[in-house]
Amino acid sequence: MKIKALTAVAALMLSAPMAFAEADEDQLIINGDVAMISKTAAAPHLEGALSEVISGWHFRDNETQAMQLDDFDNPGMVFVDLARDAWATAEGTEGKSCASCHGEPEAMAGVKAVYPKWNETAGEVRTLQMQMNDCRTTRMGAEAWKTDAKEALNMEALMAVVSRGMPMNVAIDGPAAETWAKGKEIYYTRYGQLELSCANCHEQNYGNYIRSDHLSQGQIEAFPAYRLKDAALVGVQSRFKGCVRDTRAETFSPGSPEFIALELYVASRGNGLSVEGPSVRN
Ligand code: HEC
Ligand code: HEC
Repeated sequence: MKIKALTAVAALMLSAPMAFAEADEDQLIINGDVAMISKTAAAPHLEGALSEVISGWHFRDNETQAMQLDDFDNPGMVFVDLARDAWATAEGTEGKSCASCHGEPEAMAGVKAVYPKWNETAGEVRTLQMQMNDCRTTRMGAEAWKTDAKEALNMEALMAVVSRGMPMNVAIDGPAAETWAKGKEIYYTRYGQLELSCANCHEQNYGNYIRSDHLSQGQIEAFPAYRLKDAALVGVQSRFKGCVRDTRAETFSPGSPEFIALELYVASRGNGLSVEGPSVRN
């Protein structure tokens, strides 16, 4: 099994002339002002797996990196502005907006850094999108957004901006432990005809080129990400779906319990890295 997985990765890499390039040494300072922790010591739970965790930004080319350095050049920021409008707009049968209860979006500073998070009342781990939907359905009388729907991603990007620079600090113990363990199991399971796990690519081969694409650690502290190829924001779980599909596997769906667990687990692999969204990726 192991040999087969390595062979599959090796085969995908055949097309690459340059086999390995370290994460670069550039500094991620947004608007010349907000310095991101884009490389840091890995959380204790990653012992034996990774010693350092690194933002995906370090694996992109200079041109793509530059777009994220200044909000005026970051195409994802348009969606943050849309979310600011939506935040203050009443929706649903209760005639309330997010602002009616929460005030300014800045009141949410720090929230993005701790999601996905256990919700005691509901007895479940919630992604930020699930929590926002709970406010919409139970408190506003509005319809839930579909996982990774445009409106949901816009609002998630706004939540990222107000937490910018704060280190990810997702809890993995206590009542969240069971979901976390499930996510970890998925991360290390080999899927598809290629029999590749997330770890085969993002833990064992980051820094390598896979078909001309520079493999990162597959971190999610920088989501939602603006993808140049889609000219749109992409959500964490849609990104997961794309990666699983690339292994020629049947995928889990965005919003499924499997992807919620995987989101918690992958978020915890980035503990210590700054909240960075909306990022720019190819
Ligand atoms: C009627 C009041 C009300 C409205 C309207 C409302 N919320 Fe909330 N929201 C709450 C309350 C109360 C909580 C705390 C719930 C809990 O802890 O279970 C909360 C929690 C949250 C949290 C989690 C905060 C944390 O610290 O974990 C987020 C994020 C959030 N709301 C976003 C939104 C967004 C986005 C909207 C608009 C789409 C919205 N809320 C609309 C009352 C509201
Ligand atoms: C065949 C190799 C491969 C596998 C297996 C794979 N990915 Fe990826 N993934 C990629 C490539 C290539 C990219 C784009 C370049 C990059 O950021 O690594 C990517 C990007 C990502 C990103 C975006 C990172 C960023 O900063 O923009 C995330 C998140 C991600 N993968 C998570 C996962 C998860 C979770 C799994 C397992 C379900 C997985 N990937 C499986 C190849 C893979």
